[in-house]
Amino acid sequence: MPQGDKFILLTGRANPKLATDIAKILKTKVHNPITKFSDGETRVKIPVNLRNRDVFIIQPTCPPEVDSFLIELLLMIDAARRASADRIYAVVPYLGYSRQDRKEGPRVPISSAILTEMIEYAGVTAISTVDLHSEPQQGFIKCPIDNLYGSYTLVPKLRSLKLKNLVIASPDKGGVPKATAYAKLLKAHGIAIVYKERDLSINNRAEALEMIGDVGGKNVLMVDDMIDTGGTICEAANLIKKRGAKSIIAAATHGLFTGPALERINSSAIEKVFVTDTVPVTETVLKSPKVKVITIAPLLAEVIRRIQSGESISSLIL
Ligand code: R5P
Repeated sequence: MPQGDKFILLTGRANPKLATDIAKILKTKVHNPITKFSDGETRVKIPVNLRNRDVFIIQPTCPPEVDSFLIELLLMIDAARRASADRIYAVVPYLGYSRQDRKEGPRVPISSAILTEMIEYAGVTAISTVDLHSEPQQGFIKCPIDNLYGSYTLVPKLRSLKLKNLVIASPDKGGVPKATAYAKLLKAHGIAIVYKERDLSINNRAEALEMIGDVGGKNVLMVDDMIDTGGTICEAANLIKKRGAKSIIAAATHGLFTGPALERINSSAIEKVFVTDTVPVTETVLKSPKVKVITIAPLLAEVIRRIQSGESISSLIL
């Protein structure tokens, strides 16, 4: 029986290219049930029977329309539930708002908690995501969350570079577990940690102040969960360069590249940046001489296949 007979794939407008690539690997079709009403409201009308089927909804809640993409996801879940789907899985390769995961000051929401609760409330069976900004967020809701790692996709490419005298650097202290994991996987000589200060009164402003670790004469790989405006990674790279690194490359799971990110990267000490396509890859990113995108579609297709057939996915979690 072709895979498509057992389950239905849906996508919204967030990253239809990734959804189509996943569908190709699974030898099935992906349906996009989203249109817009004249007043801007989202309309969902799923074109196929869902009764007693498993439904996988592939939709990162990412730029450029984070909030609209979230609404699309919620409405697709609701439509699938009301159409008597058997199990409904939200495959959210990039979960927006995940950096707002604590009350970092007075009179602010814990945005990540409320939004994850909304996804659960809409009626999902489980959520699959990639590199949640902080893993304790899984505790915000009761339904299962499979948090996969971008390293599964990025490490084979990084290994193929055969970098000698390699040091893995984290551009901030929150990224130390990730840097340690990459160091193990790539058999690096050690890790370095950049100390960054955020100005909470200004959005997206970070400054690299100090670092721990010896990068003198070393090839340095900086790893992070995401590159947004590029401030964190470029600030860190410039400090690492000043401390005598021989070369610097970077790897991040989510290449958001908003605002000045690409300009910053182009004029930074970073030679190459590897990202996955959890979020849509724009023409500008494709044309950027320093950015290389490696598709995460095979990983997500395999996850969908294993969820559907009831196999373990823990071996995919590097
Ligand atoms: C922060 O804790 C994250 O892991 C990223 O380092 C950060 O959000 C990236 O943002 P930007 O590229 O705007 O500095």
